[in-house]
Amino acid sequence: MGKRVVIYGASGFIGSGLAGMLVKQGYEVVGVSRKGKGSVEGVSAWVRPDAVDLRGCAAVINLAGAPIDQRWTEARKKEFHASRVGVTEDILARIAALPAAERPEVLLNGSAVGFYGDGGDAVLSESVPMGVGYLAELCDDWEKAALPAEALGVRTILLRTGVVLGKGGQAFEKLITVFKLGIGGRLGSGKQWMPWIHVDDLRAAILFCLRERGISGAVNGTAPEPETNAALTRKLAKAVGRWEFLPVPGIALKLLLGGFGGFLLASQRAVPMKLTGAGFRFHYPTLDAALRDLTT
Ligand SMILES: NC(=O)c1ccc[n+]([C@@H]2O[C@H](COP(=O)([O-])OP(=O)(O)OC[C@H]3O[C@@H](n4cnc5c(N)ncnc54)[C@H](OP(=O)(O)O)[C@@H]3O)[C@@H](O)[C@H]2O)c1
Repeated sequence: MGKRVVIYGASGFIGSGLAGMLVKQGYEVVGVSRKGKGSVEGVSAWVRPDAVDLRGCAAVINLAGAPIDQRWTEARKKEFHASRVGVTEDILARIAALPAAERPEVLLNGSAVGFYGDGGDAVLSESVPMGVGYLAELCDDWEKAALPAEALGVRTILLRTGVVLGKGGQAFEKLITVFKLGIGGRLGSGKQWMPWIHVDDLRAAILFCLRERGISGAVNGTAPEPETNAALTRKLAKAVGRWEFLPVPGIALKLLLGGFGGFLLASQRAVPMKLTGAGFRFHYPTLDAALRDLTT
């Protein structure tokens, strides 16, 4: 394996913790940012997306993507698409332009459990086909943009990430603030499954996938024990020593947040079949363990 890893989204919530881990394993890390600079421990050089050189690198990790936790206007949908599908297509064009012997060994590309749409109570392993709805289509396009890398001789991993819990993460910080104010309540019926994962486990899983040559294709980046929204709400309220507040009606979420509100009500009982099957050990397999770490 080469010794250089290129990370798109290296300055983001998930990406910013990866470089240091890779450096400890002897890699040199190049960060890709639209700003062409950044300050993340372990990143030795920054480049803009139009100046990326993937020649001979060990791995490309693509974690770019405009945040989706806002109203999904048509303009924003274009940005969601360009920052995921567009960036992935650009990576593929750069790989295809290289001689076969100089292509990266692995491409680990972002995706999300949104791929499964609303799965109700069904257990969602990686072999379940795509679901219905805007996010499912976006994730499918995103994955389809990455997959041709396999035919170019690059092992390709599509990381279907769940809701990432970690200090500094937007989702988690918003949740904690709301619960600390004592106004956190379940969303809609609360019966929908939320496929969460602790950020430390997600980063460790990314390194595991790079290392394990037998892993390719879709990989659920979620903890082995998904929880319903009602259970997550109860546990979060308890962890911060507050009562649960009134439930937020589903209709209000949809009116307030549009498509994103619908996403919060969708159920994804995703399980990390590939990771556990390959022997990955979660440091935080249960929500109780993750919340103990994150709220103390
Ligand atoms: N966090 C989660 O719970 C979660 C769950 C499922 C999937 N994911 C996916 O995992 C990836 C990383 O998540 P994250 O939480 O680390 O995201 P993040 O903190 O929002 O960072 C994403 C990175 O994407 C780049 N970016 C933002 N807007 C962009 C745009 N319009 N065009 C091109 N690049 C843009 C930014 O890099 P620069 O500003 O430096 O260019 C940023 O560092 C994303 O694709 C996200 O959709 C995350």
